[in-house]
Amino acid sequence: MKISVFGCGYLGAVHAACMASLGHEVVGVDVIPEQVAALSRGEAPFHEPGFPELLRSALDTGRLVFTTDVAAAADAVVHFICVGTPQRRGENAADMTYVNAATESIVGVLKPGDLVVGKSTVPVGTATRLADRVQEVEPGARLMWNPEFLREGHAVSDTLEPDRLVYGVRTGDAAADTVAVLDGVYASMLAAGVPRRVTDLTTAELVKTAANSFLATKISFINAMAELCEAAGGDVTELADAIGMDKRIGRSFLNAGLGFGGGCLPKDIRAFMARAGELGADQALSFLREVDAINMRRRVRMVDLAREECGGSIVGRRVAVLGASFKPHSDDVRDSPALSVAAQMQLQGASVVVTDPWAIPNASKKWPDLQFVETAEEALAGAELVLVLTEWPEYVELDPAAAKTMVTTARVLDGRNCLDPEAWRAAGWRYRALGRRDAPAAV
Ligand code: UGA
Repeated sequence: MKISVFGCGYLGAVHAACMASLGHEVVGVDVIPEQVAALSRGEAPFHEPGFPELLRSALDTGRLVFTTDVAAAADAVVHFICVGTPQRRGENAADMTYVNAATESIVGVLKPGDLVVGKSTVPVGTATRLADRVQEVEPGARLMWNPEFLREGHAVSDTLEPDRLVYGVRTGDAAADTVAVLDGVYASMLAAGVPRRVTDLTTAELVKTAANSFLATKISFINAMAELCEAAGGDVTELADAIGMDKRIGRSFLNAGLGFGGGCLPKDIRAFMARAGELGADQALSFLREVDAINMRRRVRMVDLAREECGGSIVGRRVAVLGASFKPHSDDVRDSPALSVAAQMQLQGASVVVTDPWAIPNASKKWPDLQFVETAEEALAGAELVLVLTEWPEYVELDPAAAKTMVTTARVLDGRNCLDPEAWRAAGWRYRALGRRDAPAAV
């Protein structure tokens, strides 16, 4: 099928390459010429495992092109909206500028029978408004909502082998036809057994924001338990393991630590609250304010713990920060808890040295005043305190005995509960973590 993808950022670039790998002819359209040029050369503008290979092989087939020229989408019969919906400056609500602009570009090339498919994360009600706009300009075209659930670091497999596909369709005329068109796009995935659910436009939009809100709530729940463990002397990792064995609860997304960051969960729960307020349903989501507050408190707690460990002041202390990205296997530093802690410590007078396998270019753009080094060894050299803030495998697998020879004082704070406390203590380190006992268990 001939497909256009509007917006070639994280979501759009991966979606475009994946659709081409399924055999479709794909044109990716973006307004940023440098982004288009890089993608056309087969260069991924972000770090994503498996994506550069997929991109290059799709380009080699000739079925994938990138352009800034909207007219190139005129031949396509399915047009995906994959642009970002960042948080509005100084507000909780989502900025719809890009979604609106992409829709206006698409309606300029629509033909009867075309299908517009929204994938961006949008405030509920957007799809209905855009469906009206599509049919106002081209009554023979339709719009569906097909939210994406991809995680950074797993973007390719999440796109090609998702847990489920959700189709939001406007009830009434031509609903079955539009479902059949999108089934054609995803035919091989459906044949491989990926489940799909068809619902109305509104529910489809809500599925996405509800899923991210649930994940954020799960993380903040375990971090609230970490606060309790700190106050009462319990261990949140043991608690998470034990409650996670209950199949109704499950162990995933119960890793306590510095909390969630990135370009999705934080801004999505805020936009969801803002939209609920507009709909007069703000009480229904007031718990998300607490979810957000618990999450932000973890960062403050980490800085406090560092101060405590340094005997009351971090001024002038040499601190090694391992990790800057919001999670491992990503170079994304948007709302990164790790970088936010590093920056706070620097602002409060510590001498902070940050390292990260992938995120230094992005992190140094955001916080040019922080000192960045390439390797963990360089960061550890002469450190009086070590903070592990992103659970990259290379930090999790550090040899505590070797690391001890590099630092001035063997004190480590595990912001992601990712190190083995016994191994670090046995090697002579003072080990502390969020939500865990500050000494070995009595048993
Ligand atoms: C999230 C969702 O997981 C995707 O399903 C969704 O499609 C995406 O947002 C989006 O809306 O585009 P992502 O932001 O890539 O994906 O990252 P996650 O893997 O969800 O992690 C988010 C944050 O939670 C990270 O900072 C991670 O360190 C933190 N986290 C995760 C925890 O603190 N504890 C956990 O147990 C799990």
